[in-house]
Amino acid sequence: MSNPAQLVDFPLRRPGQPYPPKQYADFRSREGLVWSHMPTGAKVWLVTKYDDVRAVLTDPRISSSPRHEGFPSVGRTGGVPNPDQVPGWFVALDPPDHDRFRKALIPEFTVRRIREMRPSIQEVVDHRIDGLLAAGSEADLVHDFTSAVPSLVISALLGVPHVDRDFFEARIRLLVTMSSTHDQRDQATREILRYLSRLILVKQKRPGDDLISVMLASGTMSLQEISGAAMLLLIAGQETTANNMALGMVTLLLNPQWIGDERAVEELLRYYSVADMVALRVAVEDVEIGGQLIKAGEGIVPLVAAANHDSGVFERAGDFDPSRSARHHVAFGYGVHQCLGQHLVRAELDIAYRTLFERIPKLELAVPVEELAFKYDGVVFGLDSLPVRW
Ligand code: HEM
Repeated sequence: MSNPAQLVDFPLRRPGQPYPPKQYADFRSREGLVWSHMPTGAKVWLVTKYDDVRAVLTDPRISSSPRHEGFPSVGRTGGVPNPDQVPGWFVALDPPDHDRFRKALIPEFTVRRIREMRPSIQEVVDHRIDGLLAAGSEADLVHDFTSAVPSLVISALLGVPHVDRDFFEARIRLLVTMSSTHDQRDQATREILRYLSRLILVKQKRPGDDLISVMLASGTMSLQEISGAAMLLLIAGQETTANNMALGMVTLLLNPQWIGDERAVEELLRYYSVADMVALRVAVEDVEIGGQLIKAGEGIVPLVAAANHDSGVFERAGDFDPSRSARHHVAFGYGVHQCLGQHLVRAELDIAYRTLFERIPKLELAVPVEELAFKYDGVVFGLDSLPVRW
C-alpha cells in the first residue's frame, strides 16, 4: 500500500528530461497508488499501472464531474470548465447525462465518416505544404503546419470560419496552460461561448453540413449546450492533435527508417500520450483500485502516459518501435469517455506525416533536439515551436 507520508508534488517538474517523466517507472513499481499534492493544495491519487488506469476509467463509482467535491484540477486555478458554467461540456458529465451528447455526435466520427473526410484533410495538408515551400527553405513547423492543420480541420468540421483561427487559438492557449489565472480562463471561456452562440444563430437560419448544424438538427440539445459541446470539440480537436503531430515529426526525423510506415502513427500515440493529465476523476463512493482504498470525495488522476509505458503490457515500453502492436494503448482514454475524435486523429497524423516527408524529403531539424521548446506548462504535453529547414 502506498504510504501517504510519501506525498509527491504533481504535476512533476519535467524540464530537461525526456517524456514521459522518468519518475513514472518508480510510481508503477510501488504497491497501490501514489498519493500526491496538486498546485491547488488538493491531494489526489495518481494511477500509473495500465490495469489500474483501465479500472478507474470504467468504474461507475468513479465520476468525471467537477460538480462533485474533491474533483482534481491540474492547473493552479482549476483546469476543467464546470458543466454548470459550460453546459454541453460533456466530457465532464457522467452517464446517463453524457449519453445524449455522445449519441448525437458518434455517427459523425465513425471510421467510415472519417474515411470520407480524408480528401478534405489531404487538401488542407497539401495547401499548408504549398505555403511552406513558397515561403522559402525554413519554417516553424508548429506555427505553420502542426497547429494549423488540426485547427483548419476541426474548424471546417464544426463550420467555424477559419479566418477566426487567431481568435480561437489565443483563447484556447489560455485554457490549456497550467499557469493561467482564474480570470484569464473565465474570460477566454466567455468569449469563445459568445462567439459560438452567435454562429449558432446563423446556422439556425442557414444550416450547413457541419457539426453545429448536425447538433441543431438532432433536437436533443439546447442552444447553450450546443455552444458548450462545440467549444469542447474545438479545444479537444486542436491542442492534442497539434502536439502529437509535432512531437511525432521530431521522432520521425530522428528515426527516419520509420518514415512512410503507417504503423508509426499508433506507436507515436502510445509513446507520447500527450493527453496524460486530461482524464480527471473523483470517487463518489469508497472504491478499491489496485489494492488501494480510495475514499468517496478523493480525487484521482489516471495517467495514461504512465499506463502506456507499463512494461508489463508493452515490452521495452520506453523504445519507439512501430513494429509492436500498440493498438490497445490508452492514449485516448478508455470506457464511456474514450476519445470521440480518435479515428480523425489517426487520419490527420497519417496524412500529415506521409505528405510532408514525401513532398519535403530533405526536411531536417534546424536546432539540436536539446534546444527544442517543450511545453512544460501545458495541460497537454507538446512543443511550442519546431524550427526546421530543407
Ligand atoms: C476525450 C485524448 C484528439 C475529441 C478524450 C480523452 C482522451 C483524449 C484521453 C478521454 C478524456 C476522459 O476520459 O476524461 C486525445 C488525444 C488526441 C485527441 C491524445 C490526439 C492526439 C481529439 C480530436 C477530437 C477529440 C481530434 C475532435 C474532434 C474528444 C472529445 C472527448 C475526448 C469530444 C470527450 C468524449 C466523451 O466525453 O465522450 N480524448 N484526443 N479528441 N476527445 Fe480526444
